[in-house]
Amino acid sequence: MVRNLLKVSDFSRAECEKVINKSIEIKKNPKKFVSSLEGETLLMLFEKPSLRTRISFETGMQQLGGHAIFYSIKDSPLGKKENISDTAKVASRFVDIIAARVYNRKDVWDLAEYADVPVINMLDDFAHPCQILGDFQTIKEKRNNLDNFKLSYFGDAYNNVTYDLMRMCALFGLKMDVACPQDSKYTPEKSVLEEVETLSKNTGAEIRIMNDTLTAAKDADVIYTDSWMSYGIPIEQEEDRKKAFLPFQVTSTVMKTAKSDAIFMNCLPAMREYEQTAEVIDGPQSVVFDQAENRLHIQKAIMLFLRDKY
Ligand code: CP
Ligand code: NVA
Repeated sequence: MVRNLLKVSDFSRAECEKVINKSIEIKKNPKKFVSSLEGETLLMLFEKPSLRTRISFETGMQQLGGHAIFYSIKDSPLGKKENISDTAKVASRFVDIIAARVYNRKDVWDLAEYADVPVINMLDDFAHPCQILGDFQTIKEKRNNLDNFKLSYFGDAYNNVTYDLMRMCALFGLKMDVACPQDSKYTPEKSVLEEVETLSKNTGAEIRIMNDTLTAAKDADVIYTDSWMSYGIPIEQEEDRKKAFLPFQVTSTVMKTAKSDAIFMNCLPAMREYEQTAEVIDGPQSVVFDQAENRLHIQKAIMLFLRDKY
């Protein structure tokens, strides 16, 4: 059966760990994998901008002996000139993996439904699984394991990255506090809360949504924030969003309230003095560049897993 990665909980906890461990192995010894996907092709469909995702997938595929095609669907949206099922079926005749970054989750779900090859979500409005798997690799490298820690998230919680962080913490039985404005524009969708609650029942995870920044920061091992202005958010909303999110900015007070050895994470792109102050992101607890680097290794591990190479 062809497997896809549309949200992080498409993998079990054991599969996430397997992929993270493979990524650590690839990072240590990249030469061992130079022919692992020899002759294979990755199609990357992009509707939204990207720095890290595009470069790391393209580089990663090349380092595995394969080839990546960048295809912009910005000016020719999926499902307009031909239906998505035709696109998926045609692409499946040419390539071995399809990856897509789209505005609307339904588009990547449809690609996955009709493709005959694995489909990877490179970010939609519902999930960012490659990011969160890479982030958990980073956490594992810093803490040596993925057990019994508390991750606290600050800012926009009606958000792809937040959703997959919640799913991942639920899968791993962790504590997670999400500090966000009360307005439903900025809080997680009901379906995500329901999924996270179901997952948590099996693992004992404790995921809380709150609007008190310092309560969220207390005892945290990982402090995480994401952009206040996700791709596609109209510029006219910027002032309102800044006002709503400012109380949730990660400052040195937030960092001091967390555990003394807490790490600071942001998936990037980041704006200094928006979701975090410059002293936090450029300070000694910040691991944002290790986080960015791990996108390369984890995506190689994800592609190998989906192509059944281990
Ligand atoms: N973190 C991340 O996905 O970055 P890009 O938007 O630059 O790909
Ligand atoms: N939430 C952000 C993540 C960027 C990697 C966005 O959607 O733009």
